[in-house]
Amino acid sequence: MTQIAAILGGGVIGGGWAARFLLMGWDVRVFDPDPEAERKINEVLANARRSLPGLSDTAMPEEGALTFYTDLAEAVGPADWIQESVPERLEIKHKVFAQVQAACREDAIIGSSTSGFKPSELQEGAARPGQIVVTHPFNPVYLLPLIELVPSPVNDSATVQKAKDILTSIGCFPLHVRKEIDAHIADRFLEAVWREALWLIKDRIATTEEIDEAIRMGFGLRWAQMGLFETYRIAGGEAGMKHFIEQFGPCLSWPWTKLMDVPELTDELVDQIASQSDAQSGMHSIRELERIRDTNLVAMMRALKAQDWGAGAVLNRAQPAKPELEDSALPIVTVQRTVPLDWTDYNGHMNEARYLQAFGDATDRFMEMVGCDADYIASGGSYFTAETHIRHLDEVPAGASIRVETQVLLGQGKKMHLFHRMYEGGRLLATGEHMLIHVSLETRRASEPSDAIAAKLGEIAAAHASLPAPEGAGAAIGRR
Ligand SMILES: NC(=O)c1ccc[n+]([C@@H]2O[C@H](COP(=O)([O-])OP(=O)(O)OC[C@H]3O[C@@H](n4cnc5c(N)ncnc54)[C@H](O)[C@@H]3O)[C@@H](O)[C@H]2O)c1
Repeated sequence: MTQIAAILGGGVIGGGWAARFLLMGWDVRVFDPDPEAERKINEVLANARRSLPGLSDTAMPEEGALTFYTDLAEAVGPADWIQESVPERLEIKHKVFAQVQAACREDAIIGSSTSGFKPSELQEGAARPGQIVVTHPFNPVYLLPLIELVPSPVNDSATVQKAKDILTSIGCFPLHVRKEIDAHIADRFLEAVWREALWLIKDRIATTEEIDEAIRMGFGLRWAQMGLFETYRIAGGEAGMKHFIEQFGPCLSWPWTKLMDVPELTDELVDQIASQSDAQSGMHSIRELERIRDTNLVAMMRALKAQDWGAGAVLNRAQPAKPELEDSALPIVTVQRTVPLDWTDYNGHMNEARYLQAFGDATDRFMEMVGCDADYIASGGSYFTAETHIRHLDEVPAGASIRVETQVLLGQGKKMHLFHRMYEGGRLLATGEHMLIHVSLETRRASEPSDAIAAKLGEIAAAHASLPAPEGAGAAIGRR
């Protein structure tokens, strides 16, 4: 049964939650008194549809239904998860929780997006305090996996576990903050960095642009993949973390750092920061900046995914299953996915190399289906591609939902001859023909496959022999 999320407050953050739940197949019910909420959520959703589905190398679940409500009680009634993202004012949050708990299911989780309040503060005066936890996200909520999950002592472990399971199922990384604290964990770092940055501007050491360059050209790249302590462990060299702390720890008490002092945000300082920021980024609208940010995040997260590392490992864990072999008498669906943002070129459509990647993925999946999987390859046998011919028949933009169907033209002895067709719905986009040879990974020479693979491949090849020969198979360059 489709699960239901109620989203209370549909601003920057509520819109991001709505998009993540919807694109992960949940039905979403939104309550926000602002008459502009529907327009704003649809704008966030458009950005999310553009960027999120392509993070997966398999087809995402079918998008859920989005409904707007003018009555909070109706919105939350059947919900499994209720996410509160109303303005950061305790009295508003308390009022909303009272209305929610008068109408929601007792087994629903109520998560609050609060950046600053502790769960025990949110739970004050609640009918069922144990139902409310902090689930603090990061913008854009539909791409960044981190959710700080902060319970108070009144939340039982079953509630915390259920919240973790649901967050994980929608592609998030729940970081269990074991001891509640103002502003949780991540924003405390960010505030420390921000405070130092404000001093650097006030003391006229650096502009907003110079500060951003210092981050993105250097440690920002390191942080996205190893964080602080693993990075410093490496910085300590062979002598390791103790050496690093002995060497650099004393600097913390030198007068470089003004960590606990906050510069006064005078009109002059605020104007200085705002005008430097206009000079740095004012040539782009906020929507443009969001799209630039999302495209870069997708490319970086997909790079980490290939390494199965950090946020990329989270993506791999959340990825829906690859297609299974269903009917060997028909062309076999070997790839189903959305074309990601980093697969397009300067013409705005899929780059040639990515056609080969999609067809290569189709061949890999087909190999797994006949038994040439990771275990078999570890045992010393595999197929190597000897020849490829790709025909580009129609344009493929980012965001296209593509499907590759694979027909076996020959599956005998050492040879495997495959013909892939790539479609978007019923539209044929490209074909890819591959000749592969089975090899021994020890001798690196052609060899016979295992009996099991030969039998499975032979069975599919025999079934496919009665399919019409594909138009374009065996074609030379220039002949369509
Ligand atoms: N902006 C961020 O980067 C960020 C990051 C993480 C968490 N948060 C937290 O998320 C929450 C929302 O922040 P935001 O930036 O999305 O704010 P926002 O101002 O963009 O959105 C708040 C929305 O709540 C609506 N609202 C007001 N009263 C309401 C009510 N009684 N019921 C339902 N909706 C109501 C408003 O109409 C508005 O659309 C805050 O608690 C904030 O601390 C913000």
